[in-house]
Amino acid sequence: MHGMTDAGSAQRKIRVLIVDDIPETRESLRKLLYFESDLEVVGTAASGEDAVRQTRETRPDIVLMDINMPGMDGITATETITQKFPYAQVIMMSVQADADYLRRSMLAGAREFLTKPFTADDLVSSIRRVYELGLSRRVSLEQAGVPVEGVTGVAAKPAKPRGKLITVFSPKGGTGRSTIAVNLAIALQGLADYKVALVDASLQFGDVAVLLNLQAARSIADLIPQIKDLDSDMIAGVLTPHSSGVKALLAPSRPELADLVAPEHLKAIVQELLTLFDFVIVDTWASLHDLVLGILDISDRILLITTPDIPSIKNAKLFFEVTDALQYPEERAMLIINMADRRGAINVRDIEASIKHPVAAKIPLDERSAIQAANEGVPVVFGNRKSPLAQAITDLAQTLVAELAPKPAEQPETPEPASAPKVRRGLFGRTT
Ligand SMILES: Nc1ncnc2c1ncn2[C@@H]1O[C@H](COP(=O)(O)OP(=O)(O)O)[C@@H](O)[C@H]1O
Ligand SMILES: [Mg+2]
Repeated sequence: MHGMTDAGSAQRKIRVLIVDDIPETRESLRKLLYFESDLEVVGTAASGEDAVRQTRETRPDIVLMDINMPGMDGITATETITQKFPYAQVIMMSVQADADYLRRSMLAGAREFLTKPFTADDLVSSIRRVYELGLSRRVSLEQAGVPVEGVTGVAAKPAKPRGKLITVFSPKGGTGRSTIAVNLAIALQGLADYKVALVDASLQFGDVAVLLNLQAARSIADLIPQIKDLDSDMIAGVLTPHSSGVKALLAPSRPELADLVAPEHLKAIVQELLTLFDFVIVDTWASLHDLVLGILDISDRILLITTPDIPSIKNAKLFFEVTDALQYPEERAMLIINMADRRGAINVRDIEASIKHPVAAKIPLDERSAIQAANEGVPVVFGNRKSPLAQAITDLAQTLVAELAPKPAEQPETPEPASAPKVRRGLFGRTT
C-alpha cells in the first residue's frame, strides 16, 4: 500500500528503502524494522541500479545501502541518489569498517555508516537520527532562501537567457487565481509577442485545461519518469498549445498522479521552462505546501490575490508575515485585489493599512464576462477584450512587463545599492 500518502503529517512514517544484493539480508533487515511503528519499509532493492530507480519511484526518506553489490555498487548509487533525490538520506551498511570505505561513502553523500553486524537498536536509532537531521537541514536551507538542490543539476548548466517567473497565489481558494493566471498569460503573449508558458501547479484539481478548453493529452506527470534527463525537447513534448499562442503545462488528469510530482521536480521543470520562455506563469492552489514554497522561492513576482473581505485580507496578512520571514525582496510579492468593487468591499486604503503593503492592482467584479468565459472555455482576454475584467488584467500585464522586461542596455540582475529608498512604500501614501 505504499502508493498511499498520508494527509496527517503528524502521523507520517519514516519511509525506508532497503538495498542489499543478498535476499536473506534484505529479509532480516525488513524484520528488524517491522515492529517500529514510526517506520515503514517502502521497498527493497537488490542492486545499485534498482536502488536508484526505487528511490525515484517510492520516495523513501532513508535508504539503507549495502556497499558491495554486483553491477552498480552502493557508493555509486549513493552518489546518484544524493544528487538527484535530495529528499532521500543514505545510511551505508558494510561488513568492512574500512576507513577508505567510510571516507568514500561520506564523500558520496551518505549520512551515516553502520558496520555489520549491528543491533536492531543501532539501526533504528540511526534511521531516526538521520531522518531528523535531514528534516532540519532541509528546513534551514529553505529558510535561508537556499534552494534545496534540484533534480537535474539545473544550476550547474551554463546560464541561458532567463525568462521571468510569475506565480499567482492566494492562501484562500476561489479568489480568482486561475482566472488571473490564464488571462495574464494570454495578455502577456499578446503584448509583444512574448513566448509565454502557463503551468498548472494546482496539481490535484487544476482548472487551466477547462478554462482554456484544452484536451489534456499530456500533463506534468508525464515528465516525472524521465525527470533526471529533463531537457527542452522533453518539455516541449508535453506542452499543450492554446490558440492564443500560450503553451500550457497541464495538471495530471487524475488527482492521484499529482503525488508523483515532488517539489524538486516542479522546480526543475519550471527552471527548464524559464530557459525556453520569456514569461512562465504558474497557477497554484491554496496551500503553502513545499511545492508552492519551492516555486515562490524562485519567482520574480508573486501575485498575491485577495478579495476585499476580512477572511481573505487576514490570510493575505499572514502570507506577508511568511514572505518577511523568508526574507523575500519587498517588491517580489504584489498585492492584487480581485472583485475590488463588489458589494460590501473593504476599500483599498483600509486594506493597505491592515496588510501594510501597497495594493499593486485592482480587478473589478465582472460576473457577466467571467461566467461567459467559463461557459465558453474562452478566457476574457482572448474572447472579450473590451470587458472590464480583460482590461484590468491587460493593465496588470503591462505593469509586469514594465517592471520585469529586461532593458537591453542594462546589466541583468544588477543589485540595488543598499541605500536605495524603498520605492514600494512610496506608493502607500499616494493612494487616493
Ligand atoms: N473579477 C472577477 N469577477 C467576476 N468573477 C470572477 C472574477 N474573478 C474570478 N471570478 C470567478 O470566481 C470563481 C473563482 O475563480 P478562480 O479563478 O477559479 O479562483 P481560484 O483559482 O483562486 O480558486 C470563478 O467562477 C471565476 O469565474
Ligand atoms: Mg484555481
